[in-house]
Amino acid sequence: MSKVTLEWCREQDAEDPLRDLRNRFDLPEDLIYMDGNSLGPLPKGVAERVANTINTEWRTDLIKSWNTADWIKLPSKIGAKIAPLIGASAHEVISADSTSVNLFKVAAAACKINPDRFEILSEPGNFPSDLYMMQGLTKFLGGNYKLKTANRTGIIDAITEKTAVVVLTQVHYVTADMLDMVAITKAAHDKGALIVWDLCHSVGAVPLDLNGANADFAVGCGYKYLNGGPGAPAFLFVADRHLEAVEQPLTGWMGHKAPFDFVDAYTPNDSIKRMLVGTPSVLAASAFDTALDAFSGVNMADIRHKSLGLTKLFIDLVQQELSDYSFKNATPTDSNRRGSHVSLMHNNGYAIMQALIDHKVIGDFRAPNYMRFGFTPLYLGYEDVYRAVETLAEIMETEVWQDPKYSERGSVT
Ligand SMILES: Cc1ncc(COP(=O)(O)O)c(C=O)c1O
Repeated sequence: MSKVTLEWCREQDAEDPLRDLRNRFDLPEDLIYMDGNSLGPLPKGVAERVANTINTEWRTDLIKSWNTADWIKLPSKIGAKIAPLIGASAHEVISADSTSVNLFKVAAAACKINPDRFEILSEPGNFPSDLYMMQGLTKFLGGNYKLKTANRTGIIDAITEKTAVVVLTQVHYVTADMLDMVAITKAAHDKGALIVWDLCHSVGAVPLDLNGANADFAVGCGYKYLNGGPGAPAFLFVADRHLEAVEQPLTGWMGHKAPFDFVDAYTPNDSIKRMLVGTPSVLAASAFDTALDAFSGVNMADIRHKSLGLTKLFIDLVQQELSDYSFKNATPTDSNRRGSHVSLMHNNGYAIMQALIDHKVIGDFRAPNYMRFGFTPLYLGYEDVYRAVETLAEIMETEVWQDPKYSERGSVT
């Protein structure tokens, strides 16, 4: 491997077709933001949109805005904007609730349309909330239902005639290991199982084709690579072929066929709206709706090409510049298996990450010892990656991370 230089990184930036997209974000100039896989930054236009929602739609127009500003249509409108990013049709996607709640709804619906099978299959070390929700669901369903887990490397072999539904996160939240959606979906279907994909660490960062893979259900997050804002509504996907049969357990009025008829009996909406529960959070949804415009005209193949370029550069530079400091890469070097973040293991990872954040390179930490760096092609460049590793090298060399203040733990890491 030839030595990576700052000049080489600048050349890559000069040739990058996405380089001007950083202008779509309101990011502090002096910051290298490598945590878009946890909380995307503020896209331009969002602050104005939310101000308008508050000052005109809410303050002046008040209740009329449900109709005049189409507040009621926001979940479908956002779903339609997400659909092309995940290889779905607009009518198969809707935005609502949190990923955890959506996962409960779709997994319950999948169990219902695949009766006489009582196993939900997932992987140990999946994002904890996914496992917790499936533990809650199987307990709630009672009877013979149980959650089984198998390592992602052996997941296909673990799918059996007993499996009702397979619940997997396509890009792992720590390692960024990326599963083969086509092969695993097919393996599930071959055994008569259904599949739910968690796309939290995929959507907006890797090209997705849910319908091309024949996926059944999916859920995903609004506040990571989609930049919808802290606690943004999540989204869910139900394949067209299941829509008519899908019954979800949280039968709130927004999922009703005619919510404003105010009748006593629940009848599900004919469309994907049956997956809704209660009133949408309009301020958050307005922010998310405008945030998604940052993807307007952007080709996901260009995003993927640059994402792989940035993650490879980071992995190479860590090897080149930090070989003295016991960092261990936890992320696949095989580009077919790598999502858009990189995790480095280090025993002092927490303190080192806090020092790095203090030096204006923002990543995050996941217990027990992972330093996680997100690479978002919309606003991060090759020189940024070079500078980030340079700063990390300085922190290691000067041992500034040993300052006790960097070991103090906040409640969010
Ligand atoms: C892979 C994955 N699934 C699910 C969740 C939970 O999302 P929420 O807090 O919106 O329910 C997260 C949150 O970070 C996640 O990373």
